[in-house]
Amino acid sequence: KTVPKFVTPLSKPPVVTPTPHPDYPANSYLEITMKETKHRFHRDFPLTTVWGYNGLYPGPTIEARKDKKIYVKYVNRLPKKHFLPIDRSLHGVGDSPEVRSVVHLHGANVFWESDGHPEAWYTQNYEYTGPKFRRKVHEYTNHQPAATLWYHDHTMAMTRLNVYAGLAGFYIIRDALEEQLNLPKGGYEYPLLLQDKSFNEDGSLFYPDKPPEDSPFPTPFIPTIVPFFNGDLMVVNGKVWPYLNVEPRKYRFRILNGSNSSTYNIQLENNAPFYLIGTDGGFLEAPVEVTSIELMPAERVDVIVDFAPFKGQKIKLLNTLFSEEEPKREIMEFRVTKPLKGKDTSEIPTRLAEDMELHEHLASTTRKLPLSTGTDKYGRIMMMLDGRMYHDPCTESPSLDSIEIWEFINTTPISHPMHIHLVQFKILNRQPFNVEMYQESGGKILEFTGNPEPPRDFEKGWKDTVKAPSGMVTRVIMHWKEHTGNYIWHCHLLEHEDHDMMRPIRITENAS
Ligand code: C2O
Ligand code: CU
Repeated sequence: KTVPKFVTPLSKPPVVTPTPHPDYPANSYLEITMKETKHRFHRDFPLTTVWGYNGLYPGPTIEARKDKKIYVKYVNRLPKKHFLPIDRSLHGVGDSPEVRSVVHLHGANVFWESDGHPEAWYTQNYEYTGPKFRRKVHEYTNHQPAATLWYHDHTMAMTRLNVYAGLAGFYIIRDALEEQLNLPKGGYEYPLLLQDKSFNEDGSLFYPDKPPEDSPFPTPFIPTIVPFFNGDLMVVNGKVWPYLNVEPRKYRFRILNGSNSSTYNIQLENNAPFYLIGTDGGFLEAPVEVTSIELMPAERVDVIVDFAPFKGQKIKLLNTLFSEEEPKREIMEFRVTKPLKGKDTSEIPTRLAEDMELHEHLASTTRKLPLSTGTDKYGRIMMMLDGRMYHDPCTESPSLDSIEIWEFINTTPISHPMHIHLVQFKILNRQPFNVEMYQESGGKILEFTGNPEPPRDFEKGWKDTVKAPSGMVTRVIMHWKEHTGNYIWHCHLLEHEDHDMMRPIRITENAS
């Protein structure tokens, strides 16, 4: 049956309020409890069981100030049983408890013990903890510019299920520079979490326990992990196909693709411009006007949309990767029907942030990192990094304060959103290469078949997740400037990440 679109209002996640605590400075300690709850996805849907931070899906927004420390304790009060199908054959599952959790702050410059390492999981009351669990309270220094980060579950081999269940929320860092910019704010600023989900007849969330019938991906047992997941319906901030009534003026949207596997190419139906002001790690040097933006899972953009010329109109936000007939082409609807409350004095500044000082000639190491296709011991296709499994010894050990170039050499037939913890990097370029020759030579011959292409307009800022297209070498440069310890890098397609497309990083004091 068809689900009526644009009948459910968009909601805005509330901002978390600090919890007073004798051991922490005033307004610096937050307690967020993960619990199972009932959620209304759509006007016509029954209540759906989800997992939420503070019982909310999306989780409440954490607002932080640059350089002002906050402490967050994420308390696990989830039930003992998971409501989605678990695959016990995956890395690090074994006979560990079914429901485990750990929260990663995506995009943060953070101590490794507070990063939310996948092996730092814990169960209710910390009865069981993973091998990398170190502390109950995460310490966030917020030592980085204003940016749109997000926090989400990152449990070893469970990330796809726990995030799908609802464990994701925004983490916004603000700073003095942002305040001087006179951007649309308050009721004119919205975070938008884009996801796609499927539902069973009874309104419960559907997640497959085996690949589709026609899939070449084998089913050695059920439940098994699937190679990817695309939901049937579009969900924004937890609402299926919502609408938002807006005034004819400027709005600021922080848009996050929080889906398991889907890529969105967002565009307004009337082709109105997005004034792009920021990417994953913060503000651009200057705004860029674009009409479409491609977002792979975990990528974010910060944009201003000016609805002033569209008084009385309804404008849909589209995913133009789909054709006209596909219901998922439509994401949500903006209705420019609210009367203007007062003159719009906000601005689209001409200058936003300092230049991105990070230059190729300063790099001490260039890492060649192939993305390849393999099979696991059950014959299932898997995507691998550098031909290795997650638990193979660490091969990426940058030394503190070094600048490195990482080259993702994608030999697989699909694009992968590559994410590196701890750092914000700059995209240098992408260059097509001869995949067959590379594979036949065992990775020895990298023959380019075209010129390097610069990053696209909506990628010319600080990034922590980058599209590594098939048949291309994608080059990024980063500075390991502040922390040492155990982090990871991985593909952010959650079905890949949970199936070994993830590798450790160890940052050391000395050269390695
Ligand atoms: Cu958003 Cu390692 O993850
Ligand atoms: Cu991938």
